[in-house]
Amino acid sequence: MKKLLLSWPFLARGGAALALVFGTGAVQANDPQVSLYTTREPALIQPMLDAFTRDSGIKVNTVFVKDGLLERVRAEGARSPADVLMTVDIGNLVDLVDGGVTQPVKSAVLEQTLPANLRDPGGQWFALSLRDRVLYAEKDLAIDNFTYEDLADPKWKGKVCIRSGQHPYNTALVAAKIAHDGAAAAETWLRGVKANLARKAAGGDRDVARDILGGICDIGIANAYYVGQMKNAQPGTDSRKWGDAIKAIRPTFAKSASKGTHVNVSGAAVARHAPHAGNAVKLLEFLVSEPAQALYARANYEYPIRAGVALDPVLVAMGPLVVDPLPVTEIARHRKQASELIDKVGFDH
Ligand SMILES: [Fe+2]
Repeated sequence: MKKLLLSWPFLARGGAALALVFGTGAVQANDPQVSLYTTREPALIQPMLDAFTRDSGIKVNTVFVKDGLLERVRAEGARSPADVLMTVDIGNLVDLVDGGVTQPVKSAVLEQTLPANLRDPGGQWFALSLRDRVLYAEKDLAIDNFTYEDLADPKWKGKVCIRSGQHPYNTALVAAKIAHDGAAAAETWLRGVKANLARKAAGGDRDVARDILGGICDIGIANAYYVGQMKNAQPGTDSRKWGDAIKAIRPTFAKSASKGTHVNVSGAAVARHAPHAGNAVKLLEFLVSEPAQALYARANYEYPIRAGVALDPVLVAMGPLVVDPLPVTEIARHRKQASELIDKVGFDH
């Protein structure tokens, strides 16, 4: 029997919920559906949702919310049909919790599958995939290992490409640096990176590969899953040409105890007023399962949150991912400070 424990805010919903929690084995009102609000491209997650429906008989109503997920759920209030809230970036997940639109979940499956680092201690959010931020290097450059600190080495003057420092992917990276080494060291480092830029910090992650192919820069920082997308793109397309121009290396923080690579997460939470909270938990439990994680790794080349999942050969070629042990919540905590620092050093100007 699957055990499902839901905590106080859910109990507060009244008699039906009480019966649900204390009943024998009956864990769910028999309404076989769940509503998912997601900022993620529907095409990206549809294979996992289809597999969940096949597996559980629970239908998933997907609502794609490109911007303003928190505002929308807040505005809908107690009548919100949302059961699961899914997004990328630890900052966005923490904002949902701080915004009061999530509820705590207790699930043995989620707790046993996800290391403590990859979920909220109170069960308010859970990571579903890892998004490591890696080095793109011109494919013939002799680089075997690299630290994020190396980005500030004067030997790379005029050779580094990166998107805006204020993009959440970079804010999180700078936040991690602050968390590891303090604000003063982070500032020195960031000024060094800025001094090495080949062009304005702008564009997208894939533009780093494009500009390496174009000879504008030799190295840059961008997310690993784009390497999977580009190197697996149709031969002859721009995307494939950019992918073929680079190799990807997982940098580490020089002083980080385990020499880990910076990762951000995609994740999800159960909505505070979820009409189908039991089904919502079932969906989350399914999304961390081995079959769903294998789909994540294949559909978007994101790194699985559990071991033993088959990876695309492009990801395998980057070597094993050693995750920076810094709790992702520490990254979220320093993101405002990071944003201010990026401004202070004029990184984007
Ligand atoms: Fe992205």
